[in-house]
Amino acid sequence: MKIVISIGGSVLAKELNPGKFRNYASAFREIAKDHTLFIVTGGGKAAREYIGVARELGAGEAVSDDIGIEVTRLNARLLIAALGSEAYHEPPETYRAALEAGLTGKIVVMGGVVPGQTTDAVSAVLAEYIGADLLINATATDGVYTSDPKKDTSAKKFDSMTAKQLIELVTRTEMVAGANSPVDLLASKIIERSSIKTIVLNGEKPQDIVDAVSGKHNGTVIE
Ligand code: UTP
Repeated sequence: MKIVISIGGSVLAKELNPGKFRNYASAFREIAKDHTLFIVTGGGKAAREYIGVARELGAGEAVSDDIGIEVTRLNARLLIAALGSEAYHEPPETYRAALEAGLTGKIVVMGGVVPGQTTDAVSAVLAEYIGADLLINATATDGVYTSDPKKDTSAKKFDSMTAKQLIELVTRTEMVAGANSPVDLLASKIIERSSIKTIVLNGEKPQDIVDAVSGKHNGTVIE
């Protein structure tokens, strides 16, 4: 299969820890033995800190986004370092460059692409671009819930849902200031328009991502 894995910065780089990057690298190597693998890394806490300081200094939103993108690419570079010769040597900056990098047979790792979105959307567009069979969104929550489980104790997790249901849910969530959904609206719409099979799961344990490729997981399937 062709697989795109979006690994949230909050999972991969909550704090910078070489052991963590090594553990994810060995999980990704394991997946890449049998599959063509593309990985999109998020920015996490460091991206938020850099963006916060940029705003304080008067930078506009798009410029702050560009700074966030740089941080996602730094995380991509660390993962590439951990993967060694099995990874394409640098994070592609466009989808076309990612597709070309994939032709080398190496694991392709990239970060953000353009301002105004997050790496959720990057991973969904990349999945479209390369014709992926599966998109895995490895986040800090264990799936998609009816509402934010941190705020609402009656929130229920979906084992599966349609992309249309996801869009409705995310639209409702994003109306609330400061609300956070595991997949953002743009990504949800792309998942819908190209019927990309997607698994949203807790990516804090690298082995859980490996297991999800063979169908074993406790996350939410969108199809
Ligand atoms: P992330 O995708 O990491 O955003 O990109 P996030 O929502 O903070 O996700 P987690 O916490 O890592 O899971 C970090 C920032 O980089 C910019 C945005 O400002 C985003 O908030 N970015 C990223 C872009 O502008 N464009 C991109 O294509 C990617």
